[in-house]
Amino acid sequence: MGIFRSLKLFLFVVHTEAYDALDPFGNITIKWDVISWTPDGYLAVVSMFNFQQYRHIQAPGWTLGWKWAKKEVIWNMMGGQTTEQGDCSKFKGNIPHCCKKDPTVVDLLPGTPYNQQIANCCRGGVLSSWAQDPTTAVSAFQISVGSAGTTNKTVKLPKNFTLKAPGPGYTCGPAKIVKPTKFITNDKRRTTQALMTWNITCTYSQFLAQKTPTCCVSLSSFYNDTIVHCPTCTCGCQNRTEPGSCVEPNSPMLASVVSPPGKVINTPLVQCTSHMCPIRVHWHVKLNYKEYWRVKITITNFNYRMNYTQWNLVAQHPNFDNLTQIFSFNYKSLTPYEGLNDTGMLWGVKFYNDLLTSAGRLGNVQSELLFRKDKSTFTFDKGWAFPRRIYFNGDNCVMPPPDSYPWLPNTSSKLVLSMLSTMLATLASLLI
Ligand SMILES: *[C@@H]1O[C@H](CO)[C@@H](O)[C@H](O)[C@H]1NC(C)=O
Ligand SMILES: *[C@@H]1O[C@H](CO)[C@@H](O)[C@H](O)[C@H]1NC(C)=O
Ligand SMILES: *[C@@H]1O[C@H](CO)[C@@H](O)[C@H](O)[C@H]1NC(C)=O
Ligand SMILES: *[C@@H]1O[C@H](CO)[C@@H](O)[C@H](O)[C@H]1NC(C)=O
Ligand SMILES: *[C@@H]1O[C@H](CO)[C@@H](O)[C@H](O)[C@H]1NC(C)=O
Ligand SMILES: *[C@@H]1O[C@H](CO)[C@@H](O)[C@H](O)[C@H]1NC(C)=O
Ligand SMILES: *[C@@H]1O[C@H](CO)[C@@H](O)[C@H](O)[C@H]1NC(C)=O
Ligand SMILES: *[C@@H]1O[C@H](CO)[C@@H](O)[C@H](O)[C@H]1NC(C)=O
Ligand SMILES: *[C@@H]1O[C@H](CO)[C@@H](O)[C@H](O)[C@H]1NC(C)=O
Ligand SMILES: *[C@@H]1O[C@H](CO)[C@@H](O)[C@H](O)[C@H]1NC(C)=O
Repeated sequence: MGIFRSLKLFLFVVHTEAYDALDPFGNITIKWDVISWTPDGYLAVVSMFNFQQYRHIQAPGWTLGWKWAKKEVIWNMMGGQTTEQGDCSKFKGNIPHCCKKDPTVVDLLPGTPYNQQIANCCRGGVLSSWAQDPTTAVSAFQISVGSAGTTNKTVKLPKNFTLKAPGPGYTCGPAKIVKPTKFITNDKRRTTQALMTWNITCTYSQFLAQKTPTCCVSLSSFYNDTIVHCPTCTCGCQNRTEPGSCVEPNSPMLASVVSPPGKVINTPLVQCTSHMCPIRVHWHVKLNYKEYWRVKITITNFNYRMNYTQWNLVAQHPNFDNLTQIFSFNYKSLTPYEGLNDTGMLWGVKFYNDLLTSAGRLGNVQSELLFRKDKSTFTFDKGWAFPRRIYFNGDNCVMPPPDSYPWLPNTSSKLVLSMLSTMLATLASLLI
């Protein structure tokens, strides 16, 4: 098992970096377009593009902060607002929207009066992932800046951008001046352009976002009775001496613990399990046909305080290049590297199962995948039929150790080697 151990070590190293092998170019780009110079500053439209294939920002939404380079103020905003006004006492008459040196901006909520909206605003800071819905993967607000430079030579770019979702995880680079954006009018008959444009790129690291995993994988198959459960204590350990660390599903206190009257709590509260994860993904190898084989995937929500809206799952398995049919989920094949087609993204069908409700209610969504066998690689032996990697909402799910996978009776060491070489080839291509 020495090779397995070094494989695990290798995967661990990859995951601690601010780099995602399955979405190598994933980023959120923030773009400032100066629309006009004003007597004491400028008017700009700030847009955020979520270019990440499978990582979205769900309620309560993003917050964006920065530091002004000089003594800028925000006269007013549309489609967004700062969380604090700050000290505007030196202004007489016209009072700015915000005088802080380091403003923090949030999106407005749906239902904001029409005259305070701009295009792509007012979704409560929720951003879809690019693969799920590019039309709602953009957020924007308009900002009128005073005490700022009034030409492209005197303006100073804001610094130290921080993007929260709303927790940590994103790191933003410096603002860079880019080619001015061109805008096409609605009737497509005229093109205008920004007076000046700068971009900021932010990237996500799961390692920065949280220290403990949030998701685990369990496995089973038709050819072996063993159910391989999530590793014990994957996301934490049950602590009987500390009440409130988890809840039993039949607890009479359940309702009052989950949402104490008159309080809104965002910390997760999970059902007591051996793994203590908010999310479990179960991969069951269900059926074997002559030409095909079938997998059932079940995602279970153990978090009483969270409904996962627009959830998504990314799975890596060498047979994804011959996925023939998928039931009741949307599917997109991800090809992060040329020639490698072993990764699929799955997400719920709108208004049917795109909402993974909290534990105690429905609590799970499921689907079946039908793969066409590729005779040269297909085998049920030595765990080949199980996924290599699973992500839920962009976060890596902890797999059981490879040597615990359900095995076919009567195993042959030849096939072990062939599976290992497949895995090594996959890993080698990820490295390049
Ligand atoms: C951000 O994502 C876009 C779209 O995938 C890509 O074109 C761009 O190169 C990325 N930027 C960085 C700095 O990775
Ligand atoms: C500033 O504007 C002038 C034209 O008004 C243009 O030639 C120049 O390239 C601009 N500089 C920057 C940094 O955008
Ligand atoms: C702001 O960013 C600069 C580099 O761009 C860094 O040197 C400085 O420490 C940052 N300041 C704060 C308060 O984060
Ligand atoms: C700046 O951001 C916009 C929008 O995300 C993008 O279309 C453009 O390519 C970016 N420019 C550069 C140089 O990254
Ligand atoms: C359980 O919780 C108690 C009280 O918070 C703490 O002292 C103890 O170390 C915890 N035990 C474990 C195994 O985490
Ligand atoms: C989850 O959704 C259900 C029904 O849509 C709702 O009753 C419940 O309050 C929601 N729970 C949370 C934690 O938002
Ligand atoms: C990858 O596999 C999927 C599913 O079989 C297929 O639809 C898609 O065309 C393949 N893409 C490439 C680039 O081979
Ligand atoms: C599986 O997919 C690969 C790549 O798309 C293709 O070359 C091969 O012929 C397919 N095998 C079967 C059995 O369809
Ligand atoms: C099922 O798989 C387990 C490994 O998880 C193995 O120990 C057991 O022998 C297998 N059962 C049979 C009947 O082969
Ligand atoms: C392999 O299968 C045969 C019969 O099918 C059985 O007699 C033998 O004990 C099995 N060997 C192992 C290692 O399970």
